[in-house]
Amino acid sequence: MKAPVLVLNTETKREHGRKAQLGNIAAAKAVADIIRTTLGPRSMLKMILDPMGGIVMTNDGNTILREIDVSHPAAKSMIELSRTQDEEVGDGTTSVIILSGELLSVAEPFIQRNIHPRIIVGAYMKVMDKSLEIMNEVARPLDLNNVEQTLNVVRTCLGTKFCARYGDLVCRMAYDAVKIVTIKRDGRDPDINIKEYAKVEKIPGGMLEDSKVLNGLLINKDVTHAGMRRRIENPRIILLDCGLEYKKAESQTNLEVKKESDWNTILQMEEDFVEALCKDIIKHKPDLVMTEKGVSDLAQHYLSKAGISVLRRLRKTDNNRVARATGATITNTPSEITEADVGTNCGLFEIKKIGDEYFTYLVDCKDATACSILLRGGSKDVLNEIERNLKDGMGVVRSLFYDPRIVPGGGATEMAIGYGLMQESKTISDMIQLPYQAVAEALEVIPRTLIENCGGNSIRALTALRAKHAEGPENRHWGIEGTQGKMADMVEANIWDTFLTKSQTIKTAIEAATMLLRIDDIVSGLHNPANK
Ligand SMILES: Nc1ncnc2c1ncn2[C@@H]1O[C@H](COP(=O)(O)OP(=O)(O)OP(=O)(O)O)[C@@H](O)[C@H]1O
Ligand SMILES: [Mg+2]
Repeated sequence: MKAPVLVLNTETKREHGRKAQLGNIAAAKAVADIIRTTLGPRSMLKMILDPMGGIVMTNDGNTILREIDVSHPAAKSMIELSRTQDEEVGDGTTSVIILSGELLSVAEPFIQRNIHPRIIVGAYMKVMDKSLEIMNEVARPLDLNNVEQTLNVVRTCLGTKFCARYGDLVCRMAYDAVKIVTIKRDGRDPDINIKEYAKVEKIPGGMLEDSKVLNGLLINKDVTHAGMRRRIENPRIILLDCGLEYKKAESQTNLEVKKESDWNTILQMEEDFVEALCKDIIKHKPDLVMTEKGVSDLAQHYLSKAGISVLRRLRKTDNNRVARATGATITNTPSEITEADVGTNCGLFEIKKIGDEYFTYLVDCKDATACSILLRGGSKDVLNEIERNLKDGMGVVRSLFYDPRIVPGGGATEMAIGYGLMQESKTISDMIQLPYQAVAEALEVIPRTLIENCGGNSIRALTALRAKHAEGPENRHWGIEGTQGKMADMVEANIWDTFLTKSQTIKTAIEAATMLLRIDDIVSGLHNPANK
């Protein structure tokens, strides 16, 4: 008799076939259940304790999942999903998880009945194409020049958030900030880099109403010397990424000093070098010099004597923002500065003290394409949550600038797609018909969850909604009004989601579900360092 061949290490744990699939489905459902209550305008917050003892309070799907510690590989991959959604469109991170959890959960009976996952996956893929087709039909164009209408869409997104009370203010801030950082490009999508150029500065204290988007920047810095000017109108600004001090050689240098007077010569040379650097700067008559590196005492002396204010040790990212706000170019060598490198677009440089700290304001900028958003508010936790809300809002505005189409919210789009799929499934005669129909029902999870979260009767409201959609395509925009959990016309209620967010949600959810269904083996090598 042959000895059994051991391929896998005996220490490895392995789940195979149906067991693996059912395990994955259970894990995905568990993740979806965690954040189910945070969907919609009646959503609950979660409070999460991190290992360091800090707390996070949020209802943002991605943030919740990022903070919790899970061990099942499928659950981990679900969490990755909401991160992708967050990076791609910034909103819909809760929906994507709930939807893919539901898509997997409706696949469970098929797997149990030994239907091959490939058939289910095939159906899901077909669904994806059809859903996008229906979404294209449901979508409406949005006139971006109509600010009120644009803000309405942002309002729907932020209406589900903690900051809903200050909705208008936060919507407006999100809109203004994205508008500033948008660079239009002919024939191509605009360049919108929120992460780099719209910086949120949170300063605890004050009232939320004091928050605003600056037409310019705010940097947590003070001038290097008390004698320098702290307020300059229309400053000429030079940005550097080199130090204004004597550069030490990189490799080891030996100096042999034979005479005592040579010491003085060496020091004199260092001083001359710094003086020459400063002269190169002073001849351009700047009012403000900012550098990413250090500025020696001597350089400060020369510059302040020339009436120049100096800020040192700026972050690279801050320097980039200043460049975009003021029109200055960051230079590396003072001797090569030209007039074109000097920034003149800033209207006012001012240093103000807020609380215990000094802040540099560079405001009233002309044609700025970078901005700071100043957030004030009661506590750090509140500010953090408002920052996350604002980021969601900015994500929505950005999506709209990329693709100004909107679809009705409150589950109306999902219902319309579900209904369309049901109709379509009647034309399908092979094995995939059943899983196809199952997806159509799975999409109802969004309106159902919205109803459940406001304590409504989901069966009654959903049946009514289904009947409404069945009456004809003119009722496609009927969904759930999320504050009362009743059926309503989303056009009247003014509840809109962006096309990009919704299509990304559906695409990502289906892709993730099919990916997890395709897995039929989970091998985990139990790595135990003690055995090595
Ligand atoms: N007033 C409302 N009535 C009904 N539904 C609403 C309303 N406002 C928003 N919705 C719906 O709520 C859903 C969005 O909920 P929510 O913002 O909590 O989650 P998300 O966008 O998926 O995730 P996150 O914002 O956490 O990234 C969308 O389907 C949207 O259409
Ligand atoms: Mg949202």
